[in-house]
Amino acid sequence: MTRQTLLSTCLLLSLAGLTQATAWPAYQDDDEHATAAVEHPPHTRAPGEIDVSITADDWVRAPGEDWFETMAEQFPDRFSYSEEAAEYTDEDGVGEGDFEGGWIDAKGEYVFRYDIEEDEFAYWQKISAKRLTSGRTLFVQYCASCHGFTGDGYGRSAQHLRPPPRSFHQSNFKFTHVIAGNLPSDDALTELILNGLDGTPMYPWALQDNQVRDIVQYIKTLSPPERGWRDVYAEIADVVDIGEDPFANDPAAGAERGAEVYHLRGCYNCHPGYLSPDEIAGIAGNPPRDDFTYPKIVPDSGYEVLGYAVSILPPDFTWHTIRRGKTASDIAHTVAAGIGGAGMPQWKGSISDEEIWAMGHYVRSLIDDYHGQPAKRAAFMATLRN
Ligand code: HEC
Ligand code: HEC
Repeated sequence: MTRQTLLSTCLLLSLAGLTQATAWPAYQDDDEHATAAVEHPPHTRAPGEIDVSITADDWVRAPGEDWFETMAEQFPDRFSYSEEAAEYTDEDGVGEGDFEGGWIDAKGEYVFRYDIEEDEFAYWQKISAKRLTSGRTLFVQYCASCHGFTGDGYGRSAQHLRPPPRSFHQSNFKFTHVIAGNLPSDDALTELILNGLDGTPMYPWALQDNQVRDIVQYIKTLSPPERGWRDVYAEIADVVDIGEDPFANDPAAGAERGAEVYHLRGCYNCHPGYLSPDEIAGIAGNPPRDDFTYPKIVPDSGYEVLGYAVSILPPDFTWHTIRRGKTASDIAHTVAAGIGGAGMPQWKGSISDEEIWAMGHYVRSLIDDYHGQPAKRAAFMATLRN
């Protein structure tokens, strides 16, 4: 390439960037906003032998119709609905000329596609090589020491960590407040990473928004074929909606109601019970298991590191530090969504939102009253064993 053509190519490229930037100004997933590579001081740099560059774009599952509807309201020039968004044809040309309606992204980042093998239509998102390289660079720098350079959950410091760092090859998540069984939306995953998980080595990450966005996009591409974000049947969901807190003005009333609901709904089958056996029998109709003041371990959870299934202890709220429990709202959202793979059921839909909020306040009150106060806690627990 001569110097002349090189210069004009650069000019063309930057012009292309310019028109794009003016056409789609504020969209947050715009590739223009991928974090630019910066020179880091030696102590924060990824190990030299680790390759962070990704040269090809990649495709992962995108959220469904609802998400596009919201986006189309915000960016009407970019997203439009078409009756002929995806063409259905199998290898022999059967169904040629048949179409399925769906959303079209003028920018081509999102597409609605027909999968011949699975006979299924789905939305997919293209993640650019540039964004992936940024995401991988940040991941290697900040996350890989625990989650592993390939994201398998077996980083250099993973061996002695309990709970073990998550393997991103599983695409299972516990605390994103998304109904168990769905994949978390970008927002839900971002919020989790910024929050961290209390009582574990997974700290709240003080990264810039764009950096977390890039990491999140990269993490999605760690799903193995036909799993997680590469699964044509996967559903991506937002944080579960349980409305406004009915006890916002009277948390004590919430906690009192929650004590009843907690024991009525059998939370003490896994977690401890926190009333006397007689009181529990009065509420639930049956006395609790003999060892009801101790949690009951879930032996083989759905969480694996290198094929080793991790056993998980349901927390005793008066003793253990829970992962996302700073507020009654955090707790209520976890209870509503359930903890997929850990055996904790989803409660949204099977009991009322009011009951869910009440338990959020109750669990929070147990933490406030006894957590970190061993003598007070021991005295309280002693009163429970009839
Ligand atoms: C010091 C070790 C450590 C580092 C560094 C670390 N994590 Fe974690 N991470 C963990 C552990 C341990 C867990 C599992 C916690 C659990 O299961 O309760 C976890 C869990 C997660 C989860 C799963 C949450 C869920 O709801 O299931 C995500 C997502 C995550 N980490 C992302 C990241 C990202 C992104 C980074 C880098 C910015 C990072 N982690 C850095 C230790 C770490
Ligand atoms: C079948 C067993 C089971 C039942 C029933 C159950 N849980 Fe859990 N729960 C678990 C397990 C296991 C964990 C720990 C997950 C982990 O840390 O990986 C957990 C964790 C929690 C947490 C802590 C979340 C965090 O941020 O660390 C809360 C709060 C909770 N459960 C509330 C409840 C309430 C309220 C009920 C009743 C409505 C309930 N659970 C019923 C198994 C159960």
